[in-house]
Amino acid sequence: VGRRMAEFAGTGTLDKGLEHAVMGESRLTLVEGETGGLSYRGYSIDELVGHASYEAVVHLLLHGTPPTAADVTRLETDLHKLRTLPAGARGVLQSLPVGLPPLEALRTLISSLGDGRSFPYPPTREQGLALVAQVPVLLAGYVRRSQHAAPLDPLGGLGHVAQYLFLLTGRRSEPRQVRALEAYFILLADHGMNASTFALRVVLSTQSDLISGATAAVAALKGPLHGGAPSKVSDMLDSVGTPENAEAWVSAALARKERLMGFGHRAYKTEDPRAKILKRIAREAADPERLRLAEAVETAAVAALERAKPGLRLYTNVEFYGALVLEAAGLPRDLFTPTFAVARTAGWAAHAIEQAADNRLIRPEVAYIGETPGHRWPVG
Ligand code: ACO
Repeated sequence: VGRRMAEFAGTGTLDKGLEHAVMGESRLTLVEGETGGLSYRGYSIDELVGHASYEAVVHLLLHGTPPTAADVTRLETDLHKLRTLPAGARGVLQSLPVGLPPLEALRTLISSLGDGRSFPYPPTREQGLALVAQVPVLLAGYVRRSQHAAPLDPLGGLGHVAQYLFLLTGRRSEPRQVRALEAYFILLADHGMNASTFALRVVLSTQSDLISGATAAVAALKGPLHGGAPSKVSDMLDSVGTPENAEAWVSAALARKERLMGFGHRAYKTEDPRAKILKRIAREAADPERLRLAEAVETAAVAALERAKPGLRLYTNVEFYGALVLEAAGLPRDLFTPTFAVARTAGWAAHAIEQAADNRLIRPEVAYIGETPGHRWPVG
């Protein structure tokens, strides 16, 4: 902390990474790092998963209250209508080269959804719902194009998560897979002032539009320190191979000073509450062999991390059992982070609206440590 925080005369306190800075107030999501709690608008994720649909959580985040039965019907109708892409976005979808990593394609595609004319500032709930509805359509359209398959029209009567799987595959997924992915979507819907949400809020704070903010958000999500890591958990499990090999593999990786993927979190000093639920979901939905392997890796890793980094309290994070759930839903590894983005659109929309409702340009200071002014420019 010493090097990351220091008093600078005239510029306040240096807080590299802003982890101790409080940039505003929010009524959306409470992250309780010490005790391992996570709630949206006062509803714990334990209460939501299994009881609420993803659509209901979208409503909760955007409106502040659970939807009534009439709200749910209206929401489903609105989402269905909004799944028709604007002509500009369809054109960009058709003109992108095939074979890009889907997350890179999604960054371009989100920016094609609109501009300050079709999504004027300040953002509204209707705009937020359009973002939630259209991002999965864009992503699925691009994935199908990369497979030289025609994009599919949304199917009436499917929930948002089942629709996403349908648009990708052209098949109705098994209810077990939809339930597992729905839990993942709910758990990933929002998470306080994470890097992508902060990026979006910086953009919105200049009174720029929601689509510009969401484009910045997905750009931030791409990095491995935020959302770009989950497929590495699957790679790690492949490399461990068998439960019997877990202890030796984990010890060797730590001896090589490698990070164990899916362990540790900036906010949580205990097990990530999302990981706990995802483990339960994985027990219901994942391949039993794969689950046995993951559980062996978890046990070995938690013990080895405690030996290697005593007192740091490094446990599984959302990515660890998240990877098993995404595998169980039938998603390929290059769609893990894009799927995270699809789920997080709800939080991005809610934060954009909240930022605009009580806006102040986000413009922090930086501590200047360069040359003392006064140098003369070399002449001749
Ligand atoms: N494996 C091995 N050591 C670890 C791990 C890990 N997974 N996580 C933290 N540590 C160690 C670090 O080596 C460091 O030790 P040191 O002080 O002796 O050098 C100490 O714990 C603190 O690590 P920081 O990087 O300062 O912790 P930070 O809060 O910045 O990092 C992070 C959090 C990035 C998630 C980290 O735990 C990590 O790299 N985990 C593995 C990658 C991962 O799972 N990413 C997904 C994150 S979940 C999400 O963002 C959606």
